[in-house]
Amino acid sequence: MKKVLIICYICIITSLPVIAQDNNFHPGEIWNDVDGKPINAHGGGILYDRGNYYWFGEIKSGKTVRVEEDKAWENFRVNAGGISCYSSKDLVHWKFESIALKPEVTDSTSEIYTGKVIERPKVVYNAKTKQYVMWMHIDSRNYGYARAGVAVSKTPQGPYKYLGAVRPNDAMSRDMTVFKDADGRAYLISTSENNQTMHVNLLSDDYLKPTTTFTRILIGQNREAPAVIKHGSKYYLVTSLCSGWDPNAARYATADSLLGKWTVQGNPCVGADSATTFQSQSAYIIPVASTNKYIFVADRWKKTDLPDSRYIWLPLTFDGDKMKVEWKDSWHL
Ligand code: DGJ
Repeated sequence: MKKVLIICYICIITSLPVIAQDNNFHPGEIWNDVDGKPINAHGGGILYDRGNYYWFGEIKSGKTVRVEEDKAWENFRVNAGGISCYSSKDLVHWKFESIALKPEVTDSTSEIYTGKVIERPKVVYNAKTKQYVMWMHIDSRNYGYARAGVAVSKTPQGPYKYLGAVRPNDAMSRDMTVFKDADGRAYLISTSENNQTMHVNLLSDDYLKPTTTFTRILIGQNREAPAVIKHGSKYYLVTSLCSGWDPNAARYATADSLLGKWTVQGNPCVGADSATTFQSQSAYIIPVASTNKYIFVADRWKKTDLPDSRYIWLPLTFDGDKMKVEWKDSWHL
């Protein structure tokens, strides 16, 4: 108590904000960074690099509008704000580092123009080129462009240089993730074929291009929001169904090799609200360094006010080879 009073006193006399972040995760609540500002990193991915975690995510701010031309589905959007980068040592307290990738604000022909879509950034480190490589979903305002974009940096926090976007092996690519395997190979896993089927693409040695080695997985199953880990000798892939910003039931699949064959296993979420993934959608799974623990990272989208979307971080556990995610109001590692 005495210690808390002393800290408050120091904060008052030095005019520092009093920060209320404890050591717990509070899924669904506003999560402030160490400067007391709400973390703005949606559809995120986490990189572990030399003792630090880096959280990359979509910057969502400003007014949410519905794209009127898209009558068939609820295309709610905010201007693409680029990609933020936060750092942390304990996964609870995050420091804003930078806007790792800035959107283009004037040239409307640019793929990263703020009037378009930049989503689901994932960063991996390439030991051969000593570059940090960011892959992300790049799209037009109506999501018809359907490409995977790539950017590079010499430091984890950027700034990242945007190199361009591709349709891997001439196929559409929307929601995506990147997975770096223990042998140094990296894979781009994305929703393709008009959201019907996923593709797993082996990336080139420098991680900058998809190679011609790819497989079609979860064929005709309408899955998106992929998140991958390797646990024991198996790969686990969590996905959602495609229902815009609205939540649905997650499902996971397992494989002995990233290129497949993938076998569907069911919903990893259990208990109340498991049919809506606790009102959220998968973004990433964090293997906690030097432990056998994992964190399920998801977004609780608020489609009519996207900047107020919240983060759902929950413990992901295994019972043998069965994956399980359970709701917790508050928890710590
Ligand atoms: C669901 C995707 O998972 C999100 O990343 C975003 O693209 C929305 N659809 C857009 O409606």
